[in-house]
Amino acid sequence: MSVKTMHTPEVKELLEKVAGLNQAGGNERVKTIVHRVMHDVFQIIEDLDITPEEFWSAVYYINELGKNGEAALLAPGLGMDKYLDIRMDAEDEQAGLAGGTPRTIEGPLYVAGAPESEGFARMDDGTQDGETMILTGVVTDQDGQPLPNTLVEVWHADLKGGYSYFDPSQSEYNLRRSIRTDANGRYTAQSIIPSGYGCPPEGATQALLNQLGRHGRRPAHIHYFVSQPGYKHLTTQINLAGDEYTYDDFAFATREELVCDAVRVDDAAAAEQYGLNQPFTKVEFNIQLVASDKPEHQQRHERKRALEDDIA
Ligand code: BEZ
Ligand code: FE
Repeated sequence: MSVKTMHTPEVKELLEKVAGLNQAGGNERVKTIVHRVMHDVFQIIEDLDITPEEFWSAVYYINELGKNGEAALLAPGLGMDKYLDIRMDAEDEQAGLAGGTPRTIEGPLYVAGAPESEGFARMDDGTQDGETMILTGVVTDQDGQPLPNTLVEVWHADLKGGYSYFDPSQSEYNLRRSIRTDANGRYTAQSIIPSGYGCPPEGATQALLNQLGRHGRRPAHIHYFVSQPGYKHLTTQINLAGDEYTYDDFAFATREELVCDAVRVDDAAAAEQYGLNQPFTKVEFNIQLVASDKPEHQQRHERKRALEDDIA
């Protein structure tokens, strides 16, 4: 059975009442958005002939998603974070602010307030016996001039793909650091090569991905926030080359310019340079920032982030 009711005065009036358009008060922007969203949902129900069974299973799915706090996990899985990036890239292009190291999605696992240091930080707490990683690079402007005293915030997963704070078995701020670049614009971190993240297998996000025939895996990756007054704030990540999911990230964060080689270094002299007495794996990621004098470009956009309100 396929009936068409969207064009009727009854449905039009219902949508207006739903969004409070027939009332004074409330928030005009919210009213406009809710009116459009509900119109489009009704339209989908009509166009796809959604059955009551399908409708109610979607409602209870949303309940499940919220119960486990997984909405911000499903969003990147459905390409929404990537779509916002596509829009911000297009806005930058239009404003003449394109270039520099590309942005990519933040993800939901940042925690504010990581320990800050100058030039170098040890990121892991030494409890996991992973491959030692030296992560280093230089932050420059678009002419290649080094930018000393740039704040480079770095965070990544452990050997099980888990993040400290969200995984209470890890120590506080494990694998999270804020490093100020040295006089040459360089930051260096000693850590462990991370494993890729996977959505909780029994969670609501994975349940929907299963229905789509998709996996919920991310490659081994490392997150960055990079900020320096006078430059656009950069939110980005690197994905390590050679991971099964480097080019098959369920969260769509991979960009060719952000794929980095992880290079095994066996040379004892090179190890000594970093105070190590064993072979290690080096990951080099240089970062180029784009100048902007607009304060709104110099800050990351607002969203709910763990501990951020406590710190500000
Ligand atoms: C992550 O960065 O690990 C992540 C990003 C999107 C969804 C889930 C995890
Ligand atoms: Fe991540």
